[in-house]
Amino acid sequence: MQFSLLSFAVLAGAAVASPLAAELQIEQRAAAADNCTQYTSVAAGSVCIHSPSDCTATYLVQPDDTCGSIGAIYNNFTLSIFQYWNPDIGKTCFGLQAYVPVCINTPWYTFTPPVQEPEGTVEADTSNPIPQMPNIVSNCNNFELAGGGYTVDTIVASNNISEDNFLDWNPYINKTAPVAWEGYWVCVGVAA
Ligand SMILES: *[C@@H]1O[C@H](CO)[C@@H](O)[C@H](O)[C@H]1NC(C)=O
Ligand SMILES: *[C@@H]1O[C@H](CO)[C@@H](O)[C@H](O)[C@H]1NC(C)=O
Ligand SMILES: *[C@@H]1O[C@H](CO)[C@@H](O)[C@H](O)[C@H]1NC(C)=O
Ligand SMILES: *[C@@H]1O[C@H](CO)[C@@H](O)[C@H](O)[C@H]1NC(C)=O
Repeated sequence: MQFSLLSFAVLAGAAVASPLAAELQIEQRAAAADNCTQYTSVAAGSVCIHSPSDCTATYLVQPDDTCGSIGAIYNNFTLSIFQYWNPDIGKTCFGLQAYVPVCINTPWYTFTPPVQEPEGTVEADTSNPIPQMPNIVSNCNNFELAGGGYTVDTIVASNNISEDNFLDWNPYINKTAPVAWEGYWVCVGVAA
């Protein structure tokens, strides 16, 4: 996989709650642990991935795929549930590996659009916003989806937070020349 474009990050953040039903499904599934399955490919080597035992459909990851590109192929699941089904890809989606399958459906899942929220959406961590910038602090409880042309200044202002706090919560972002990645969620609030 490749990283997507770098771009200056944000604008107004509309508070959008995720559908309660989807959160409940995630909670229920969290109780059931699944075994990992071994895959070997030229690109990935030998890897052991976790997938729901009741997974009913898979997709074979291609070299340039991102979470967003895979979501866009099918338009029938959210990126949050995609990461939940495929925990090994991580919240950054950096764990996607070419020629290794990922789960794209389970019988208990019902898609509630959109696949990805509009740029500028602010969401609580409970909605598992995906993909996230790397290394976001663990007590982050509010995320904003950075869009093309968004500046860190505007993200900070629209969320009424200081740039120092923002950079502390998003340590992967260069403090000298702060840039958020288009299409990635950044941290805009932490639990007290
Ligand atoms: C592995 O799968 C088997 C059969 O589904 C299950 O009984 C067992 O609890 C699983 N083990 C783990 C560690 O999830
Ligand atoms: C999405 O569409 C693909 C292709 O039709 C299918 O295999 C998969 O089961 C679908 N997933 C969901 C969540 O509907
Ligand atoms: C912004 O934050 C400051 C300091 O935390 C607070 O006093 C003020 O009420 C906040 N303004 C808004 C609009 O939330
Ligand atoms: C951060 O930005 C400064 C100024 O552009 C640059 O010199 C430095 O190499 C950057 N650091 C990283 C880790 O990208």
